[in-house]
Amino acid sequence: MERYDLWIGGEWRKAKRYEPLYAPYGGRLLAEVAMADAEEAEVAIVSAHEAYQSFKHMPAYKRADILYRAAELLAERSEACVRLLVQEAAKPIRAARGEIARTIETYRFAAEAAKAVAGEQVPMDAAAGGAGRLGFTVKTPIGVVTAITPFNFPFNLVAHKVGPAIAAGNTIVLKPAEQTPLSALFLAELFREAGLPDGVLNIVPGYGAELSEILTTDPRVKGVTFTGSPEVGRIIHRQAGLRKVTLELGSNSALIVDEGADVASIVDRCVEGAFVYNGQVCISLQRIYAHRSLYGEFVERFVERAGKLQSGAPEEESTDITPLISRKAWERVTGWIDEAVREGAELRCGGAEPERNIALPTVLTGANPSSKVVAEEVFGPVVTIAPYDTLEEAVAAVNDSRYGLHAGIFTPRIDRAFCAAQHIDAGGVIVNDIPTFRTDQIPYGGRKDSGIGREGVRYAVEEQMEIKFISFKL
Ligand code: SIN
Repeated sequence: MERYDLWIGGEWRKAKRYEPLYAPYGGRLLAEVAMADAEEAEVAIVSAHEAYQSFKHMPAYKRADILYRAAELLAERSEACVRLLVQEAAKPIRAARGEIARTIETYRFAAEAAKAVAGEQVPMDAAAGGAGRLGFTVKTPIGVVTAITPFNFPFNLVAHKVGPAIAAGNTIVLKPAEQTPLSALFLAELFREAGLPDGVLNIVPGYGAELSEILTTDPRVKGVTFTGSPEVGRIIHRQAGLRKVTLELGSNSALIVDEGADVASIVDRCVEGAFVYNGQVCISLQRIYAHRSLYGEFVERFVERAGKLQSGAPEEESTDITPLISRKAWERVTGWIDEAVREGAELRCGGAEPERNIALPTVLTGANPSSKVVAEEVFGPVVTIAPYDTLEEAVAAVNDSRYGLHAGIFTPRIDRAFCAAQHIDAGGVIVNDIPTFRTDQIPYGGRKDSGIGREGVRYAVEEQMEIKFISFKL
């Protein structure tokens, strides 16, 4: 059985503590993984801080070359990456392939972003006091960045933090989710082979309040980028104080299926949005508001299609549904479904395989808007469907949420599309597709409890840089 150490300063370092890592599907022991404590994390911060002193001078074209090369190496090793996702995250193999293809593209976007970093001229003579001066801005890296990443996209959401950091000229201490450390550790030697100097990327798996505290409060850390729950996001934000902070938090993403939408042609896509990777996606489709004229047909087709999804082993091509990431997650998700039914919802399809921690695709109608399956982020394969009469009513229902990441609307009418786009309070409105739509160059981030700042490589680079203004008196 393999044992994984901490990756600090360009080498593997023994840790004080190791923990077994089990596959969510089948429970096989996959590896023993080092779990860093605060002292070991500090060693990683020191290493990143020292590496920054020279990395900040590396020219953009060289940083871009490293990122292009990393993308190339990932493409060469993509089968191994897919295997890791299947094993440690129980990601169905088709979704795992999709994630790796996206990850390669994310690093390529980062390479392009590295070469596009630029300031701008400031029109100095627009102010009377500025006449006779030339003013411009330059962008500078911020230094050591802490990246804390979730289990659901162990390659691509790491890429969305590591790629922009390298593009900007920062150095990184990465704390991957404790459930999926192997995908992150896979990058250690890959980036070294790609030419990344020692100490620029440090990887310290682990968990706990002390670890998170040092990673967010050490004076050498200048920025924190986190993807996870709003509850943890709030703690990180408080701890990080005046540092630059990017928070990608949760959502209970909604879709409006408007009057005149072609139900037969969109239903497969809606089912995909609700159940891909068991709904363990921040922009998973969780709430559907269907116009009353097509509500009955939509529910019937959706339930029929959802009932056909196959549960099973993640490595099987035919598998759609796999175990949730942990027993605790399974208990929470199935508990919320039971609670919603007690609160008046009708269970249209669903069920569970408790022995495998699988929750089957679940559709609820008539759910109380205050039930957790509507109001909170389920992060499981659960969708609620409700009818509406007017678009204003549907938009109000979408906005009646503490979250605001992505929302979608299917409509044949351009005026109604623009009306929804204008009035929905979210980081992104996706017209004629599901809220689960994302490609890796788009600005991605939320409003309200869904977060602060934007990812989508070029935007994340901005979040990880400072602007310096320079004035020349002529
Ligand atoms: C997320 O779960 O936040 C990421 C979704 C995606 O990249 O598709």
